[in-house]
Amino acid sequence: MIKLSPSILSADFAALGDNIRKVENAGAHYLHIDVMDGIFVPNISLGIPVIKSIRNVTDMTFDVHLMITKPERYIKAFVDAGADIINIHLEASEDIKGSLASIKSFNKRTGLTINPNTKVEEMYPYLENLDLALIMSVNPGFGGQSFITSTLKKIEKLANYVSKNNLVLDIEVDGGITLENVNDILNAGANVIVSGSSIFSSQDIEEAVKSFYDIFKNAKK
Ligand code: DX5
Ligand code: ZN
Repeated sequence: MIKLSPSILSADFAALGDNIRKVENAGAHYLHIDVMDGIFVPNISLGIPVIKSIRNVTDMTFDVHLMITKPERYIKAFVDAGADIINIHLEASEDIKGSLASIKSFNKRTGLTINPNTKVEEMYPYLENLDLALIMSVNPGFGGQSFITSTLKKIEKLANYVSKNNLVLDIEVDGGITLENVNDILNAGANVIVSGSSIFSSQDIEEAVKSFYDIFKNAKK
């Protein structure tokens, strides 16, 4: 099943609860939460207290994208805050296998993320420990950037490798995804779509979510 994970990075933070209810009512499955530390990426966003607060307003699956150095330090804190899926960056962790095991020990879903300049093959040793592989299609740190087209080849490569090796995991893509290019990303083999500005910066947030799901319904898989 194809799922949408709206990224709250582009939401109006003064009306966060209201924005979240809108995407939930429109049928979005996941909520993508971007955590930045100003070191791994050149920006700072939101953190643990915000996640705790919004946990009280929705039952959506929290898809937490940790753009922080040494994420292993904070896994329990994000579990306690209400994360369901915890995505760590391959480039940021000094102990990837240990981090994934720690996420699993809390019965949460594991995610591993790679930047546009990281080869997809670097993920292969970890795939059997993953519930989700997240491929960045922009350099992380900011919403509203343009999709890097060469990502499509990486998605295809990963999707082929996953099916050839009978692995079961979601393939998520994040950055620059719009109603115009989402079909290419689905055709390449992704099944979880992150979208920030295309949803929260649009005039009608609920309509934007529904338009994505209309495309998903007509997609091949
Ligand atoms: C960027 C974040 C993304 C961002 C996507 O570092 O990881 O999740 O919010 O925003 P759009 O969809 O606007 O590219
Ligand atoms: Zn993200």
